[in-house]
Amino acid sequence: MVQTARQTASRMDAIQPPIIPVLGQLIRETPGTISLGQGVVHYGPPPAALDAIRAALADPATHEYQDGSGLPALVERIARKLSADNGIELARGSRTMVTAGANMAFMHAVFAITEPGDEIILPVPFYFNHEMAIEMAGCRAVRVATDERYQPRVDALRQAITPRTRAIVTVSPNNPSGAVFPESTLREINALCAERGLYHVADEVYEYFTYGGARHFSPGSIRGAEAHTISLYSLSKAYGFAGWRVGYCVYPDHLDGAMMKSQDTILVCPPVASQLGAIAALDAGRAYAAPYVAELASIRDLVLAALASLGPLASVPAADGAFYCLLRVNTSMEPLRLAERLIREHRVAVVPGTAFGVDRGCSFRVAYGALQKETVAEGIGRLVEGLRSIAEAARRPS
Ligand SMILES: Cc1ncc(COP(=O)(O)O)c(C=O)c1O
Repeated sequence: MVQTARQTASRMDAIQPPIIPVLGQLIRETPGTISLGQGVVHYGPPPAALDAIRAALADPATHEYQDGSGLPALVERIARKLSADNGIELARGSRTMVTAGANMAFMHAVFAITEPGDEIILPVPFYFNHEMAIEMAGCRAVRVATDERYQPRVDALRQAITPRTRAIVTVSPNNPSGAVFPESTLREINALCAERGLYHVADEVYEYFTYGGARHFSPGSIRGAEAHTISLYSLSKAYGFAGWRVGYCVYPDHLDGAMMKSQDTILVCPPVASQLGAIAALDAGRAYAAPYVAELASIRDLVLAALASLGPLASVPAADGAFYCLLRVNTSMEPLRLAERLIREHRVAVVPGTAFGVDRGCSFRVAYGALQKETVAEGIGRLVEGLRSIAEAARRPS
């Protein structure tokens, strides 16, 4: 007799479902909605990367398993990029591994540095997949509040450390707030990790996306940091490469055995054609992203100016990087309910801050990377109008 598998409790039950598909469904039900929800760029890969991928198809080696940590030519190209752009010298005691995106690198890192029951500190707001990965590994994400500008408070991070803490995570430039953490803050956090025997996991996937005077800083470049710093990078954003799934990480030599176990089990080796495209993309370098970042800077100005007009109904702290800002709305309405009404009644989608751990007040991530300027302008217009009519009506005594 054939038995069907019994539906039992799973480690996934307690993990928050990803919010983007939930909003996606609402958007599909409301044609004409402008989505300021998705964290992607509107441009594609460098043409040379696509040429390299096309050429790779004719090579039998493309279709075989290759080195687990990445093609030697890509690993070598990444090493040069890390030295030139990030001030990270692999020869000092760290190494790099190519993964299918930075999310996978984060998962590997969590497996490599924890035992079930350990804790990893996430400043709030955090990137939701980080919390999900930590919980899937049977660990606890410890949420620590940031200040009113979404900057980490080092004292609060220090106070959150327990004997079970294994790492502190920073995301700068930040998803979802757009905040860029100053070099001095990142140095303090890195030093705190060294002092307390913790890893500093630095997610730098938005490294090239900074505006005005804001400067990106890589904690892995600090002398001595190589022994306890894990740095995460991605081609998804800078090179419009999200679907090709290429990211990479830098980690201390002593974690190599553990990182390779995870890589071998989950991925075996990174997709070969994607890696050949990645070499060409890195050859194009940050100069490829520069004009798009300049364009995003002007879209950001437009977004921030429009949102500023909402005061005192809403406020938005400085957002000097990535392509997000995290808007605080002065209402007692439940954020998901308000997001739903914005879609259904005003045909504009934004992501509730609750998805990023902001459980006090009502906030929304506004993403402006995925659309042309005119569409963003139209979407922001709808958002401003929608918030005025819904939230102000809710504030009026009935
Ligand atoms: C902070 C952060 N880290 C990692 C990722 C995922 O990058 P990848 O596509 O390389 O997995 C994202 C994507 O939105 C992100 O915002």
